[in-house]
Amino acid sequence: MDWSSLSCSACVLIILFLPLGASDDRLVPGKPLSPGTTIVSDGGDFALGFFSSGSMPSNLYLSIWYNGIPELTMVWVANRETPVTNSTSSASTLSLTSTSNLVLSDGADSHVVWTTDVASSSSSSPVAVLLNTGNLVIQSPNGSRVWQSFDHPTDTFLPGMKMRIRYRTRAGERLVSWKDARDPSPGSFSYGCDPATSIQMFLWDGSRPVYRSTPWTGYQVKSEGEFLITNTSAIIISLAFVTNDEESYTMFSVSDGAWHTRFVLTFSGKLQFQSWNSSSSTWVVFGQWPRHKCNHYGYCGTHGYCDETMLPVPTCKCLDGFEPTSTEEWNNSEFSKGCRRKEALRCGDGFFALPGMKPLDRFVVVGNTSSKECATACGRNCSCMAYAYTNLSRSIANGDMTRCLVWVRELVDTGKLGTSTDSDTLYL
Ligand SMILES: *[C@@H]1O[C@H](CO)[C@@H](O)[C@H](O)[C@H]1NC(C)=O
Ligand SMILES: *[C@@H]1O[C@H](CO)[C@@H](O)[C@H](O)[C@H]1NC(C)=O
Ligand SMILES: *[C@@H]1O[C@H](CO)[C@@H](O)[C@H](O)[C@H]1NC(C)=O
Ligand SMILES: *[C@@H]1O[C@H](CO)[C@@H](O)[C@H](O)[C@H]1NC(C)=O
Ligand SMILES: *[C@@H]1O[C@H](CO)[C@@H](O)[C@H](O)[C@H]1NC(C)=O
Ligand SMILES: *[C@@H]1O[C@H](CO)[C@@H](O)[C@H](O)[C@H]1NC(C)=O
Ligand SMILES: *[C@@H]1O[C@H](CO)[C@@H](O)[C@H](O)[C@H]1NC(C)=O
Ligand SMILES: *[C@@H]1O[C@H](CO)[C@@H](O)[C@H](O)[C@H]1NC(C)=O
Repeated sequence: MDWSSLSCSACVLIILFLPLGASDDRLVPGKPLSPGTTIVSDGGDFALGFFSSGSMPSNLYLSIWYNGIPELTMVWVANRETPVTNSTSSASTLSLTSTSNLVLSDGADSHVVWTTDVASSSSSSPVAVLLNTGNLVIQSPNGSRVWQSFDHPTDTFLPGMKMRIRYRTRAGERLVSWKDARDPSPGSFSYGCDPATSIQMFLWDGSRPVYRSTPWTGYQVKSEGEFLITNTSAIIISLAFVTNDEESYTMFSVSDGAWHTRFVLTFSGKLQFQSWNSSSSTWVVFGQWPRHKCNHYGYCGTHGYCDETMLPVPTCKCLDGFEPTSTEEWNNSEFSKGCRRKEALRCGDGFFALPGMKPLDRFVVVGNTSSKECATACGRNCSCMAYAYTNLSRSIANGDMTRCLVWVRELVDTGKLGTSTDSDTLYL
């Protein structure tokens, strides 16, 4: 992929299709943006403007989309829940106030439907700039950022955007799906950090978990995948985990010159890495979660697990020492009843190792232990059924460098991952 020629054709597109009266890449006080005009980032990759939802043409949403991609693809929407009216008599406007706030007002009755609501000292000449990363930022004259759209994700993560797990002032954010393919109002799916543990991510449908990521195993940078595009170029997606006193977050990046790539929660509840193939003019899906039926949350029932090493069709199995609760249902691929113990557990039976597993859900984290102390913590409590131990010394986390997980409740949602870097050894 020759990136320079691609961005050059993008420039030509901008010159050809930029509507008359459009400003450049920024908004200043006193010069509002109204429907029909757009702001285009310096570099031409993204545009900010109004779009109308296909299902309700009179509803307008302020949003950011890829400029120069023929399939209109939104990466951010400001007023998902409060569309403005597309009125020819009195236009809706987005304006920047002298107090460094963006304000979206409805044309019909000029009431404010959305604002950045930054409590800031009035700055003489703020500016709102759409950066070529797709980030809309409000800056003070000295260059400090007062607000940025990257801090308020909708259904899409872009390279360089922080997927916050926790931070000092707020809990982690969630991606929230669109209602359907054409309606940006909030749908039922969301994706974010598990508030109970802070070390794993969940995809929910309402409050019901649909998919759970593997708990963080201490990586700082992990290659999520390398996808060969031609025999000489590839999209390399890598994930970084950063934790400091202020916040913990993950972030993804793509190799230089790669196609436009985004991580999106689709309206149908799938997490996808998508890249734009400009030869075919389509979004190509490079990764999807949940990957298959079997690794939906708890699909294999209590004490069951999804064997993801069984290809092409992963299937449910019972953990060692367990058998299907109902063999008949199990034989009919109905796994919800899960598995039961073959023999009653006697306290002090000892542990056996199951390597290559995804740690189960509903664990208790025991701080600051060695692997021996972790085994003892579980072994001395008869209601403890399993434990897993990871030494996080390869991570940059400061303080406690160990992770001892113990399970004292029923064992749900695990999988056999094989040699994946995310896998752990479970001691049962
Ligand atoms: C608003 O409606 C007019 C027709 O009434 C249409 O031409 C225009 O494209 C709409 N604006 C947007 C931003 O969709
Ligand atoms: C920049 O200006 C803002 C107010 O406009 C002020 O709060 C901030 O401290 C300034 N930052 C620097 C680095 O001077
Ligand atoms: C890569 O593909 C091109 C044709 O698309 C071919 O000419 C070239 O020899 C290939 N290079 C390698 C290293 O396979
Ligand atoms: C991109 O599109 C071209 C043209 O349709 C196709 O030949 C190529 O396989 C596509 N690449 C990927 C990675 O999907
Ligand atoms: C389930 O399948 C196994 C092996 O295929 C068979 O031995 C067993 O009888 C079946 N059980 C029931 C209840 O259908
Ligand atoms: C973790 O591993 C490092 C080296 O890999 C070792 O120096 C350290 O003692 C280990 N920590 C614990 C608590 O086992
Ligand atoms: C075993 O663990 C359970 C659950 O954490 C706890 O309620 C119970 O007190 C523990 N028992 C002992 C003997 O530590
Ligand atoms: C971990 O435990 C050791 C003693 O077992 C103690 O010296 C150390 O301060 C503890 N570290 C943390 C981070 O709690």
